[in-house]
Amino acid sequence: MCGIVGFVGKKSFDEKGGVNGAEVVVDGLKRLEYRGYDSWGVAIPGEKKILLHKAVGKIGGFELSSAPELKGTIAIGHTRWATHGGVTEINSHPHLSADKTIAVVHNGIIENYQEMRAKLEKKGVKFRSQTDTEVIPQAIQIELKKTPDFKKAVRNVLNELEGSYAVAIVVEGGKKLIGARKGSPLVFGIGKDGYYLGSDVPAFLKYANKAIFLDDLEMVEADEKGYEIINITTGKKVEKKITKIAWSIEDAEKGGYPHFMIKEMLEQPMVLDKTAATSNVELKKAAAMIKRAKQIWVVACGTALHAGMYGSYIFALNNDINLRPVSAGEFPYFAKFVGKNDLVICVSQSGETADVMEAVKSAHDSGAKVLALVNVMGSSLMRASDYSIVTKAGPEICVLSTKAYLSQVAMFMMLSYELNNKIAAGKKQLKAIKADAEKILVKDSLAKIKKVAKGLARADNIYAIGRGVNYPTSLEACLKIKEVSYIHAEGFAGGDLKHGPIALIAPGTPVLVFVANDGPKGAPFGGAAKEIVSNAMEVKARGAEVIGISYENNQVFDRYFAVGDHGIFTGIVAIIYSQVLSYYIALEKKLDPDKPRNLAKSVTVK
Ligand code: G6P
Repeated sequence: MCGIVGFVGKKSFDEKGGVNGAEVVVDGLKRLEYRGYDSWGVAIPGEKKILLHKAVGKIGGFELSSAPELKGTIAIGHTRWATHGGVTEINSHPHLSADKTIAVVHNGIIENYQEMRAKLEKKGVKFRSQTDTEVIPQAIQIELKKTPDFKKAVRNVLNELEGSYAVAIVVEGGKKLIGARKGSPLVFGIGKDGYYLGSDVPAFLKYANKAIFLDDLEMVEADEKGYEIINITTGKKVEKKITKIAWSIEDAEKGGYPHFMIKEMLEQPMVLDKTAATSNVELKKAAAMIKRAKQIWVVACGTALHAGMYGSYIFALNNDINLRPVSAGEFPYFAKFVGKNDLVICVSQSGETADVMEAVKSAHDSGAKVLALVNVMGSSLMRASDYSIVTKAGPEICVLSTKAYLSQVAMFMMLSYELNNKIAAGKKQLKAIKADAEKILVKDSLAKIKKVAKGLARADNIYAIGRGVNYPTSLEACLKIKEVSYIHAEGFAGGDLKHGPIALIAPGTPVLVFVANDGPKGAPFGGAAKEIVSNAMEVKARGAEVIGISYENNQVFDRYFAVGDHGIFTGIVAIIYSQVLSYYIALEKKLDPDKPRNLAKSVTVK
């Protein structure tokens, strides 16, 4: 939540070839908007004062030409998802010290800000905002009276902070950019024109493809000549590995599509192809951890949790292995049952979700091993895990997760085949699924989905039902619908229908019914499919409009979307229909599918 960006050029902006930091930072903020879009701001340290530009709302439409004063070799910026203090210009970042000489942008939560603020107020410091962040520049200004060395003063203040932070700091007249992190992500980019700071790599991917992933309690100081990284606690220099970023800028751009959401959904066949090409070495290592484990937990949030739940059905049906999926926020209640021979599989697109990171810590405290299925290379989760497989979605910018979900479920599928020593068969099956996914994403099929979406956009409630693997499919389908269209949507297990949810069905209520040929081992094939079709009959009898997403048409369906029969993996294709439906419902309601209200892509606070 919240995105921060920083830049310091290798040449002064006034020199030939010098780059305008404001341009880099505004571009970076636009690319990080998925982290928060309540308000935004930029600060540029000038000789005599810090230039500040802030606004409430999304940065998306802002053109630098409308603020020609924003120029400089160094700049920092912030796009906000409000936690402390309402959405106002005053509360938006950057925040300045009282004397307006120090500017700070921050992602995270300073837990002891009230104590710090009270202490500073006693010293006569006047605060402007209601944010936790403002204590940082204010405290640095006071600290500078005792410790004139700026870097040391910053370090002293950072050492006082409790909670989490990724910060970028500049000082009036200064030539240096400072970045530091503890508990919130911060990547340092190295490019030919300068050095960059970003909460995520896409912030500077246009300019730099080499990066250093800062670890907790590390601080980088960069100027036109170079950079140095130190440990915040000890002040000692740290040597860090430079990583070449595998993603390209095209991956993180709309590429002519109106929204990232549609672009990313259309990329899904390619993602499945890439997943099928996962190295056997990686799969074998992960499979060995799974085989060794006494109990296996799957911990994740949101869409990633649904992928983990789907994975648990795959392992139950295909491998006779019991995975225990738990929402990361609820994991602390069960952590006492985690033992040293257990494995915790953490699934995450960003690799930064606060609850997931806490689960990693608690798993390690119990002596358990952590295996991550994570999309962002160099993320906190990747670094904290004992082993990780990078899922193959590539950069996902839309706040709603689509292609990352597919890549996660497909990775569980590959692991399942690896565990059965049938990886070649797994790859073949994934190719077949990919071919099927492609068919859904062609023009005619999209037009058909759009037509159905038009009708659904008028609904007050939408439900989805599924059994087995399609229970998580139903949950995920409804999560997509509610996130993007604000229509109330709930997914249920078919078996639960008569235990309450059926009371919600009124004439005309749309119900998506996911059917897979997924009878459990030993049961007559298609057993579960028959049961969910019976559930469809039950809702239809009460007036529901039944939309079947199935490998086989049935007279109970008022509308029918076809998927191939991929057994327990059918949900990987079926979910695409509901993703596309959600997208078109949002468009029909004139909503921005890339940035739904109140949501942020990366939830880095609890
Ligand atoms: C937020 C996002 C979801 C995402 C969830 C978990 O809620 O809006 O799309 O599924 O966080 O994020 P992660 O990065 O851990 O997969």
